[in-house]
This record gives sequence, C-alpha cells and structure tokens, in this order.
Amino acid sequence: MNSRFGIEGIAVSIPSHYIDLKTLAEARGIDPAKYYVGLGGRRMAVVTPEEDPVTLAAEAARKVLGGYQVTPDDIGMLIVGSESGVDAAKPIAAYVHGLLGLNPQCRTFDTQHACYGATAALRLAADWCAQGNGRRRKALVIATDIARYEVGSAGEPTQGAGAVAMLVSTEPGVVAFDAYPDAVFTEDVMDFWRPHYRSTALVDGKYSIECYLRALEHTYEAYERSSGVRWEDFTHLLFHVPFPKMAYKAFRRLYEREAARRNGDFPPLDAEYERLTGPALWANVEVGNIYSGSLYLSLAALLERQDAAVAGGRIGLFSYGSGSCAEFFSGSVGPDASVWRGRIGVAEALAHRTEVGYETYLALRRAGEAMSKNGSFRAPGPEANGHVRFLGIHDDRRVYDRPGRRAMV
Ligand code: COA
Repeated sequence: MNSRFGIEGIAVSIPSHYIDLKTLAEARGIDPAKYYVGLGGRRMAVVTPEEDPVTLAAEAARKVLGGYQVTPDDIGMLIVGSESGVDAAKPIAAYVHGLLGLNPQCRTFDTQHACYGATAALRLAADWCAQGNGRRRKALVIATDIARYEVGSAGEPTQGAGAVAMLVSTEPGVVAFDAYPDAVFTEDVMDFWRPHYRSTALVDGKYSIECYLRALEHTYEAYERSSGVRWEDFTHLLFHVPFPKMAYKAFRRLYEREAARRNGDFPPLDAEYERLTGPALWANVEVGNIYSGSLYLSLAALLERQDAAVAGGRIGLFSYGSGSCAEFFSGSVGPDASVWRGRIGVAEALAHRTEVGYETYLALRRAGEAMSKNGSFRAPGPEANGHVRFLGIHDDRRVYDRPGRRAMV
C-alpha cells in the first residue's frame, strides 16, 4: 500500500576532485584489479580544504531547493544525517540553516548512527509529514559525509565524500514510501567506529560485512512478513554501498534465499543482479563511500540515468549503519520522470571534477587536517563558481563563505 508521503525532490553534491583507484593501488604496490574488481570501485572523491560536510550539505540543499522551486520559507524541518560532525554540540544542520537563509520557524538537528543516520532522518521526516505536523511545509533531509580511513589501511580504497539532499513532503513525486510496519534491526557490535579523538574510522572489515549481511536477512524477512511484497514486485533493489562489491554480496544473499524457495526455477544470479541492482551503482563506482548518503546516491543515480525505465516502479531499499542499526523499506517511484529529470545533478558534478595524483591526494589530506585546527582561517580569494566554501577556524569558530556574502570574522 503506497502512501502520499515521501521524496518530492532529490539532488546531489560531489567534491571537486578525485583520485583513480589504479593510482592508489600502484602507490601501495597492489594489483589495481583488487580495487577495480575485488571492491568494484573505479575512482574516489577527494575533498579540498575548502570542502567539508557543511559545504557539501549546503551545496546539495541549494540544488534541491533551486531545482524544485522551493523557497526557504517552505521548509519546516531540516535534518542532517551524518557521522562526520564538525562540532560536538552545534549540528551541521544549524550551519546549513544559516547558509541557506531558512526561516527561523524550523526544527533543525542532526541524526547520527553511522551510515544509518540519514535513513533515521528520512523516516522521521516522513512521519512528520504523514501526521500533518508540517502543515503543508516540507522537510529537508540531507545525508552528508566524508569517509576517511588511515593511509595504507584496507579501508583506504573505500573512501569517498558527498551529500544527497531530499525534500520530504506530502507531494512525493519522486518516491512515495510504502506504509508498512518498520522492518528494523539493531545489534550492539564493534564493526566500525570512530572515537572522538580520531579523524579516521576504525573498522573490523570482514566482521562488518558479516554484521551487514545478518542485518539484511533480519530486516528483509521482517519486511516480507509485514508487507506481503515479494521479489517479483520490485523493479529495483538498492543497498547501502560502502564499496560497490558489497551491494553485489548483499544482492546475492537475498537472491540465494529466493532461489532456494523456488527450487532453482529462477533466472541466473548475474542476470537478476544486472536487472535489479547493477543500474543503480554507476555513481558509487565513481565517488566511493559517502557513508550516510551511499544508499541515496544509488537512488539518485538510478533515477537520473534510468528515469523512464524506473518511473512507476517499486524500489526496495536496505540501509545499514555500523554499530549497528538497519532498515529495509520500499517505495513507489512517481509515474512522471519529468518531475526529477535534469534536477539531480550527478553526471554534471562528475563531469566537472579534477583528477589528482597520489602526492596531491596526500597533500590535500594534510591540508584538511590543518584546517580543522583553531587559527586556520585564511581570508577568501575570489568567489569559487558561486559555491559555499569553508575558510577555516578563527577564535574557535568555523567560518564559511557563501556566494554573495563575504565571510564575517
Ligand atoms: N584481483 C581481483 N580481485 C581481488 C584481487 C585481485 N588481484 N585481490 C583480491 N581480490 C578480491 C578478494 O578476493 C576479495 O573479494 P571477495 O570479497 O569477493 O572475496 C576482495 O578483492 C577484497 O579482498 P580482501 O583481501 O578481502 O580485502 P581486504 O582485506 O583488503 O579488505 C574490506 C576489504 C572491504 C574488508 C576493507 O576494504 C574494509 O575494511 N573496508 C571498510 C569497511 C567496510 O566497507 N565494511 C563493509 C560493511 S559496512
């Protein structure tokens, strides 16, 4: 049963630079096929010191408000899902609220549970709309993250960064959520975490894959039980994508379950994968892991490239956040692809990126670390193509420059 609440608009922002995983593999003395084939990635986004989780979020939000002709006064709730918080108290959402000039009569906060944070935000926003609490105002939900592991670690080739902004309302022209009971699963595990004193994540990689797949089985079973929706009802199945091969492993787990149920009378694994999941992954392959936004980058990419094929279909979505919390839910894509066509911006953002070599990648990492220290503020140069920029920290305060407004310190 589909509802009248869900995603009205979606847009993406991606950092301006990237490194090819072949470059990284060569620097590590590793066969590039391990990253290209074994992990399924191709390139990964690299941030400059002027890009942080706030600027990425603000850019995605600016695109979604502009693309769907929504004014700042239309937003009654702003939730940012992220595990890359820039302050232990002040949420990313508060900075974004200011940078966008939203109405003060707006509830503004962050949600955090590793890569599940944005899904928590989305579900909360949808409930707020469904209950009529928005009084025709919309919620703005933004997933924003910078995935960062130690240099030389197994997680390093699965880094990435980006943000996905979604308008949630009672006019869900993009995806109307199905109104089934929650299919959620929580387990207190140490599969991936980042203590406050670290800027890079710690991960027990193989264990985190096990935890992910266990959560997938639990939530999918609960979803099937409560919804009655079956494999053949989906036009696409989307998964959290810490690296593209993980989506394949997840798909395979559900496929094997389904094939067993049908005593082998079922299309081959790879054909089903290419039909249901493969078409959503082209942007994840280019960008890498964006933690809370990875699932929604897949959704955005699928809508952008397969718009006519996906219009009117039903999508299943699996969200997993280490630690852990997971959820399987579904929704119906709107019948009219012109609602989102030309407004998502994935291919356009990718087309404007600059490639960096290994030494530049390391230098940008170091520069980013230096920017997170008090006193790093530098007066802005010329405005950068109208983009919001992080200018450093002055007097313990983060300083941002947004188009048309000079930085105030
Ligand atoms: N050519 C092709 N494939 C190759 C290869 C080569 N030369 N060398 C290795 N591979 C394959 C392996 O067979 C393996 O594939 P499989 O998983 O299908 O068996 C894959 O590449 C990864 O190799 P592995 O040795 O397992 O990698 P690793 O020890 O470096 O760790 C992760 C991989 C994903 C665990 C690691 O990148 C990580 O910790 N990532 C961050 C955490 C994460 O993403 N968790 C997921 C759940 S949220």
